[in-house]
Formats: sequence, C-alpha cells, structure tokens
Amino acid sequence: MKVTIREINKYVDQEVTIGCWLANKRSSGKIAFLQLRDGTGFIQGVVVKNEVPDDVFQLAKTVTQESSLYITGMVRIDERSPFGYELLVKDIELISESHDYPITPKAHGTEFLMDHRHLWLRSKRQHAIMVVRNEIIRATYEFFNDRGFIKVDPPILTGSAPEGTTELFHTKYFDEDAYLSQSGQLYMEAAAMALGKVFSFGPTFRAEKSKTRRHLIEFWMIEPEMAFYTFEDNLKLQEEYVSYLVQSVLKNCKLELNTLGRDLSKLENIQAPFPRIHYDDAIKFLHEKGFDDIKWGDDFGAPHETAIANSFDRPVFITHFPKAIKPFYMEPDPDREDVVLCADLIAPEGYGEIIGGSERIHDYELLKHRLDEYHLPLDTYQWYLDLRKYGSVPHSGFGLGLERTVAWITGTEHVRETIPFPRLLNRLYP
Ligand code: 4AD
Ligand code: MG
Repeated sequence: MKVTIREINKYVDQEVTIGCWLANKRSSGKIAFLQLRDGTGFIQGVVVKNEVPDDVFQLAKTVTQESSLYITGMVRIDERSPFGYELLVKDIELISESHDYPITPKAHGTEFLMDHRHLWLRSKRQHAIMVVRNEIIRATYEFFNDRGFIKVDPPILTGSAPEGTTELFHTKYFDEDAYLSQSGQLYMEAAAMALGKVFSFGPTFRAEKSKTRRHLIEFWMIEPEMAFYTFEDNLKLQEEYVSYLVQSVLKNCKLELNTLGRDLSKLENIQAPFPRIHYDDAIKFLHEKGFDDIKWGDDFGAPHETAIANSFDRPVFITHFPKAIKPFYMEPDPDREDVVLCADLIAPEGYGEIIGGSERIHDYELLKHRLDEYHLPLDTYQWYLDLRKYGSVPHSGFGLGLERTVAWITGTEHVRETIPFPRLLNRLYP
C-alpha cells in the first residue's frame, strides 16, 4: 500500500510503501538509520542487517543524500521520535541517485543557501516554515469565509499608486505606462461597495531600496475592506483575525513549531483585545526611553517599533498617526485635523509592523482635495473618486503582510525564509 508520511499513523503494525528522499543517514555494521522525507513529513527508517537481504542492507549503507527511493516497511510506534512513528525497513528501491548534493548536514553560509534556495526548501526547517505559511493562508480563508466576506482579486497591473509613487515597479502596458500593484486597496474599496465585506490575497511589489530583515521586493498581502466599518470596527476585526491565525497555527502545527524551536508560551498569550497606544503617547514613551532622535511628525524606524513592542506581551496598535506621513486616502480624526484614523499593528519580539490599516475618506470634496495635495492625477483616480459620488459610505480596511506574520509566528529572524523564492534588493536567482 502506497501511503504518505503524514497519514502513516493510520497504518501502525502494517506494511506500507512510501515514495521519499533520503535527507540524512547514519549507520554501523549491523544497523542503518535513514532520515526520510516525502514532502508531507519526516520519518526515520531503521534497516537491520539480519532482517533484510544483503543487497538491501548494502543499498541502505551506500545510498546518497537526496536520492529518491521507494521504501517498504512496517510502521511502528516510536516514543522517542517527536513524530511518534518509525519504519522498520523491509525493502528499498532506488528511483534516482543523487550526486554530490550541495547542502550537507554541516552549517552553510546564508548566501550559499540563498543561491541554492530551490534545494534549501527541502530542509526540515524550511519545510516547517512553509507548512506554517500554508496554515496561515488556510486559516485566513476560513476566518473570512466564516464571517461572510467575499474573496476578490484586484489587478496586478495598475495605473495607480495607493502607497506613494517612490517605490513603484514601472512597466510598459502597450503604449501606456503601468505599475505592478503595491496594494490592491483602492480596488478593494470599489469591491466593498459592490459586495459589502471583501478580502484579497495576492502578491504586491515595492521597489524599496531597503535591505533589512523585514523587507521583500515581492510580498503577499491579505487586504480586507468593509463597507460601513468604522475605525473602531476595523481594529476589532484585526485583533480577532490575528488571534485566530496564531491560535490556528498553535492547534494545527505543533510539530512544525517544535521543529522550529518556537517558544509556545509567547504564542499562547496572543488573544484579543490588543493594547493600543496613540501616536502622541508613543512619541512620549520613546522620549522617556531615551530616544532623542525622534520628534512629533516623524515616522517610526525598526528600533522605535521594537522598543514599543517590548513593553507588551501581544501585538500593539499604534493609532492616529500624523496625516503628513500617511497616504492620501485616510480619514482625518474628526476631533483633530493633524492626525488620521489609522493604526499600524506591531508584532511582539521585534518582528515589526504586520498590519497597516485605516478608515477611508468617504467625502468627495475632501478626497479630491487630498489627491491635489499629493499631486496625484485626477484622471487616473476618477474611478476612485466615483465611489464617493454614488452612495458613499464610511468604510475601513487593512493590509496584513503575510511574510512578516509568518516570520513572527515561526520565530524566523529574516523574512527571506518565509516565502518560497524571495525577491530581495540584490536577488532574482533562483
Ligand atoms: O502598511 P502598508 O504599506 O499598507 C498598505 O499597503 C495598505 N494599502 C493596506 C490596506 O489598508 N489595504 O502595507 C501593509 C503591510 C505592512 O504592515 C507589512 O506587514 C507589509 O504589508 N509590508 C511588507 N512586507 C514585506 N516587505 C515589504 N517591503 C513590505 N511592505 C509592507
Ligand atoms: Mg505601513
């Protein structure tokens, strides 16, 4: 019976065959331990000299790392293995031999691993990160579907620039200029007026010259947008969503979190509601902590965000940023002209901003005025202004950066390990 490692718990004391690769091995004169992986998981195969034909034991001793195999054996419970099972091998069939696999069990430098990303993905740690990434995506669809949201796909080739024009990827669109989407938000606003509560999940592109552990050139964003949602409604949804993601990973990816050595107690804390701090108070707090480099009106850098995040055991909202450092579309605070109804959600433990969101301007004249102030061409944004002309309603939304969220939940230092093939400032290969 051909089975996968993931479902092997259903076959205890039965003989099964798995298609797999050899991740690692060690052997002595009488016994060989094969670390096997099949994409669904990892399991140890035990080959005992006296229990298999000579040629099978010989193959077990000589087979090279990452050779592909069919292995037949008896499934046994193994209390010592974190996975809980092992295979007592009866037969090995070599499918394809691997020669001089470059990633050996010894430690390699980051650039070497990045050059071999197409192979590095096979490692236990990278496998675990990708499984958690998948769980976050799965839980996202579940969360929004359960709450009556409709999934909408905004375009990737666009003429507009919601987050400012400095970081756009330019391309030709026949005779016109086009940009790769830096956010689907403006289209999601149109979709919310048609479908009520919507969310998107797609790639976004930013030609940011930032070389930090939090920046990718191509990253994936989840962007919900809700008609009739106020700033407050928006924050409630965000804390509920982020808690749901963390609790889903805790429930469904225990093995992977253990493989990654993640401190589970840090994740168990992540329950709504999340603390909130007004931008004014964040500035005061930073001054008290000795950050003399920042003044009211400045944006926060990574050290500022980390200092704020470190005083809380769960993500923290920084709210009401100065309007001058935020995009044109944010609704001003009705009590104060100089700040807007927005919030950034900062992850704990120094993983940085994982969500940016706001209530959107719904008044036609005000939005037009803001577009002018930002020198944005009215012809490009006429369709967006139209939304304020035909039954405009208060509405809000946010964008969660998938890779930063994966980095935080998995405890991965750099976002380059949280996406299968990262696009970085100086990396387009592989
Ligand atoms: O804060 P940002 O720029 O917000 C927007 O794009 C809004 N239009 C979203 C919305 O309201 N619909 O980006 C949202 C999130 C950030 O909080 C961060 O998690 C992630 O996207 N992000 C990046 N992740 C990796 N690499 C980058 N270069 C990123 N830039 C933003
Ligand atoms: Mg932001």
